[in-house]
Amino acid sequence: MNTSGRMIRGFVTHEATYMLRKSYPYYLANLAVKGKAKLDVIDKYTGEVATRVALPDAAALDQAIEAAHDAAGAMRRFKPYQRQAVLEHCVARFRERRDELAYTLCVEAGKPIGDSAGEVTRLIETFKIAAEEAVRINGETLNLEISERSAGYHGYTRRVPLGPVAFITPFNFPLNLVAHKVAPAIAAGCPFVLKPAERTPLGALIMGEVLAETDLPRGAFSILPMLGRDAEPLVTDPRLKMLSFTGGLVGWDLKAKAGHKKVTLELGGNAACIVDGDQGHRLDAVVDRLVFGAFYQSGQSCISVQKILAHDDIHGELRRRLVAKIRTLKAGDPKKKSTFLGPMIDENAAMRLEGWIAEAKKAGAKVLCGGGRKGAMLEATLLEDVAPGEKLQRMEAFGPVALLQRFSRFDEALGMVNDSDFGLQAGVFTDNLRHAMRAWDELEQGGVIVNDVPSFRVDNMPYGGVKSSGLGREGVRYAIEDMTDVRLMVIRNN
Ligand code: SIN
Repeated sequence: MNTSGRMIRGFVTHEATYMLRKSYPYYLANLAVKGKAKLDVIDKYTGEVATRVALPDAAALDQAIEAAHDAAGAMRRFKPYQRQAVLEHCVARFRERRDELAYTLCVEAGKPIGDSAGEVTRLIETFKIAAEEAVRINGETLNLEISERSAGYHGYTRRVPLGPVAFITPFNFPLNLVAHKVAPAIAAGCPFVLKPAERTPLGALIMGEVLAETDLPRGAFSILPMLGRDAEPLVTDPRLKMLSFTGGLVGWDLKAKAGHKKVTLELGGNAACIVDGDQGHRLDAVVDRLVFGAFYQSGQSCISVQKILAHDDIHGELRRRLVAKIRTLKAGDPKKKSTFLGPMIDENAAMRLEGWIAEAKKAGAKVLCGGGRKGAMLEATLLEDVAPGEKLQRMEAFGPVALLQRFSRFDEALGMVNDSDFGLQAGVFTDNLRHAMRAWDELEQGGVIVNDVPSFRVDNMPYGGVKSSGLGREGVRYAIEDMTDVRLMVIRNN
């Protein structure tokens, strides 16, 4: 396995072929609904309609919320071993349907088949972790006898499900970012209503099909591939006790409208990776990881490498090897197993980023490689001398573009990373333990990854950001904490 395969790319043994169905139902209170209105799902590489999904209306959304509200008691009483059995069923079925899931993802998201297979592996792992966590949601025994006043009193806590919850998920990981909400909700005992991204709803609907095979109490789940503008009740309806949103900065506006709900937000970043001056002895390995971190799934990940900060001592050589490596990346049809770089989610997204590159060039930036665009395909692009105020510096690129910058002192590099409105994850390649510890201390981030790219994620890690990047953490156990409340019992024993 190469170093890229270590974390995200799956192992693909054949070219991807699989027939999508003509249409897919949505799920309302655990039941498949075929519906009349349909939403087209586009093959993101060919631009053709790949299949269609049933489109729920406002009444269906209201019924789903009511059903989730009504199912709260049954889900609370659904025992941990029963929740575990549901999650284990999902693990088994996703394994059986692995090739179908990978192919479907490849079509609906334009994600290269290697990355798609990798995401299916992560989907399975996320459900597996949740199956394990479902039976270890524990509480505490508290010593309340802190003074004479409370002599004879004993305290106990346990975690109880919050109740019905709402989920809104993005297009870039249509399986695993759905799994990070759905699997913890089942483990925690919360009924849920999910709106998957309208451009990539199929993965969530296949998950619905598998969940419909289980004994989950009626109303425990609804999966409604609606248009964003019709999904407002998921944010505002007081019957829902929590909103968990992954997507763009619009999440902060949703939070403002969410009333008394608990809100968790995962809103992206413009991740930086520092390469320290002592990395000359393994520059090829560092380059492999940087190129992978910047360009896998066309940079459409909240933790893809957007800024590479190189120490003066290795900057020249790193620059040369990065450009050489990027030029070898194979772009094209995501269904071919040799393809590394597929399309962006649509042509508008690619045009937006092409515009940002043009603006940066006008302000003095130099394109070291890439920069070209054909439809939704944007070349893997590396720039240098991008001015501090440029969109490529300040905002989330969410595409196959990285910036190379240099620094002389490690503290200067830490300042450069912190000079951002975002703070999700940062990477630091260094052999210097003191530098690693300083980075962990000083960087305003949800996570600091030492000796790898910020794009590294394993699905039991706490994952989430500070500053504009969001609120709360995913990573199954942390999401379960968010989806449960602490309930105290005090017993007087004298
Ligand atoms: C994201 O884009 O936030 C998810 C990244 C990942 O799960 O690898």
